Amino acid sequence: MTGTTTANRNLDLETALCDARSSYVAARPKSQACFEAAKAVMPGGNTRSVLHFGPYPFTVAKGAGARIWDVDGHTYADFLGEYTAGLYGHSNPIIEDAVTHALQNGLTLGGPNAVDAKFAQLMCDRFLAIERLRFCNSGTEANILSLSAARAFTGRTDILVMDRSYHGGVLTFSGDSPLNLPFPIHRATYNNATEVVEKIHELGDTLAAVLVEPMVGAGGAIPGTHEFLQALRDATQATGAMLIFDEVMTSRLTAGGLQGHHQIKPDLATFGKYLGGGLTFGAFGGRADIMDRFDPERADAWGHAGTFNNNILTMTAGHTGLEQVFTPQVADTFFNRGNAFRSTLKAEIDALDLPVQITGLGSMMALHFAQDTPSAPPDSARTPSGLHELIHLDMMERGQFYARRGMMNMSLPMTNDDLDRFRMALTDTLEARAPLVRDTFDQSTA
Ligand SMILES: Cc1ncc(COP(=O)(O)O)c(C=O)c1O
Repeated sequence: MTGTTTANRNLDLETALCDARSSYVAARPKSQACFEAAKAVMPGGNTRSVLHFGPYPFTVAKGAGARIWDVDGHTYADFLGEYTAGLYGHSNPIIEDAVTHALQNGLTLGGPNAVDAKFAQLMCDRFLAIERLRFCNSGTEANILSLSAARAFTGRTDILVMDRSYHGGVLTFSGDSPLNLPFPIHRATYNNATEVVEKIHELGDTLAAVLVEPMVGAGGAIPGTHEFLQALRDATQATGAMLIFDEVMTSRLTAGGLQGHHQIKPDLATFGKYLGGGLTFGAFGGRADIMDRFDPERADAWGHAGTFNNNILTMTAGHTGLEQVFTPQVADTFFNRGNAFRSTLKAEIDALDLPVQITGLGSMMALHFAQDTPSAPPDSARTPSGLHELIHLDMMERGQFYARRGMMNMSLPMTNDDLDRFRMALTDTLEARAPLVRDTFDQSTA
């Protein structure tokens, strides 16, 4: 791939962006044709909003290990990692074998199968809060079901979430999405224990649940402090509201997710992404007295449907991954490896003395254009626009792929060389664009 090495690289952001977009487009004609064709049948050529970025996303032809290829023949180190669902990489042989074997025994079986309860048992063993568990098909569904269960269990109506948090396509709390579920929602600032405790007490016996990620994922890999999470636990216990940890992303951090790491037991927790071993997945669980309301033999049982809840492919891939690949020991080692990688990356970027921050925990991290490390999801309207796009385009030119908004995730098959190459590419890119980063940032905050 050719880099943008023109002499006027750092003249101004608009010129730099025009150059970088032109190079991207010139190198990806087949992806452009796919994008144009897709637009005829899917709005914006897109069926999952987060996959869109300008000028147009490259079309993925295949993946293997920790790499993906586009239809134009470029190879990328995959630090997007399917927004954390790609923990196992694209072709883990143990999971592939298990799924191939399951395929030979038939699909759409329409009954309990040999794997679902074993998988549920593994998850109950792994995650502190999970005494009972149910499977569903996505993280969004897991959050909807646990919020609804919390409302039914408490007989209360209202929900408290953190401002600019993301819990699924109909549970999006950056701005006001007209597609959100019509629950009475209140918002508080992430990591502000005083504010959140006040809100919980103010809402008193109208508050059914607090839904929170123990580390903000989509909003920029911002860890919740222990004090903040403990304050949520204590205040909800005092008022009788349910505390729900959304661990759709963060359960991959340490063997028992962040509930284990902090030794804080929410009433309910939700899961998704990598736990399906690469296939579509969701799960929610927690206290037995709440979850047992789903027992179909009870006269007052809550119904919970979902044709594919225990589909044999997901059950097999997820169970095999958790039992044989992402063992507790591997999970803890990977967490430490991620922390070490992020520390080195951060130290090198700090040395550039730019308004750039790296946040995260373990194998999940994010790049921010900010003077200080954010403690809550930043207001995207106040982030200097164009810088994320420029660095993202530059990194793709170097064969490195991560999320346009700055999220970067490691996957298990990544080698130390992969990590070194990514780190060097990012520091080199930021160094090469340093004057532009500084000027754009200064202008936007002046
Ligand atoms: C924290 C969190 N919760 C829920 C979801 C929704 O999961 P899904 O995309 O599987 O519906 C996501 C997806 O990115 C997420 O990051």
